[in-house]
Amino acid sequence: MEFHTPVLLKQVTDFLINKKFSQHIIVDGTAGGGGYAYEICRLVPKGSKVICIDKDKESLSFSRKKLKEFKFVDFLQGNFGNLNSLLSTLGVEKITGLVLDLGISSYQLDYEDGFSFMRETFLDMRADKNDTLTAEYIINCYSRKDLIRIFETYGEIRKPYKITDAIISGRTKKQIKTTTELTEIINSKINLHPKNKNKFFAKLFQALRIEVNNELENLNKVLEQSLNILQGGGRMVVVSYHSLEDKIVKDFFKTNSTKISVSKYKNTVDFYGLIILNKKPLVPEIAEIRSNPRSRSAKLRAAEVIGEKLQGK
Ligand SMILES: C[S@@+](CC[C@H](N)C(=O)[O-])C[C@H]1O[C@@H](n2cnc3c(N)ncnc32)[C@H](O)[C@@H]1O
Repeated sequence: MEFHTPVLLKQVTDFLINKKFSQHIIVDGTAGGGGYAYEICRLVPKGSKVICIDKDKESLSFSRKKLKEFKFVDFLQGNFGNLNSLLSTLGVEKITGLVLDLGISSYQLDYEDGFSFMRETFLDMRADKNDTLTAEYIINCYSRKDLIRIFETYGEIRKPYKITDAIISGRTKKQIKTTTELTEIINSKINLHPKNKNKFFAKLFQALRIEVNNELENLNKVLEQSLNILQGGGRMVVVSYHSLEDKIVKDFFKTNSTKISVSKYKNTVDFYGLIILNKKPLVPEIAEIRSNPRSRSAKLRAAEVIGEKLQGK
């Protein structure tokens, strides 16, 4: 079984590993099956350290197995939104690279509960089973207004009133527990064109997943922390699959990008910020999309921190 085919792999490592460092401390904040981390481990110079984080215990055990030949890797189960405190457990204060490959892996989609509308499973969708919010709770307990909010904003479903009403009328008769119960309730009330059905359910399930895992807030949190954790020359690479995620990354990079103020008097550059490495996001080539259709919505953005006092510049 292939756990997950890493997306834009070469582009990620090319951006992430700044050759100016003779040793790295690189964090893969979304280790998944270890696809990126394996390649990073192969490429970093001797004496480097790689830290793999994932909130999904099962995924982390896959990366542990995949990376067992490398003795300089640490594994941390946790939320990248708590990056500072996770790294402090290892005594790490500064890093040279951070990569985030957002969303879920193919393994989670194909084997874990709730993520796919194609299989009947419990409406769970938690990447971390210690979290309390599940898709089942959202579907059965959220108000009409909140359901509409998440379908509209996270699912980008326009006017989701009918489907929301179908869910509400279904749940008053019987609690909706599984993926199939949810899709059947919607199918029984709404005439979706067969051509659009899969796309529609993909959006609906995506909206629930983003809410369950609080994905956008965690992304904001990790970006904020990254500026203090990455050392000068350190690189950040984010691969996103949703327009809202991409917008968060784009805006963050822009807001924090360099406006260098040079002090001639002190002969220093007193500045801390980002240099954007690619103005337009990188997307997979047609060949990659053909061999891995799940890569089709990927967008890669990369930036480098500058923060040292650059003498004489
Ligand atoms: C697209 S997969 C990463 C695949 C990985 N790049 C590879 O090559 O195998 C995304 C992973 O990020 C994890 N994840 C999502 N949100 C997270 C968060 N807030 N903190 C930690 N891990 C998270 C998911 O559990 C999943 O394993």
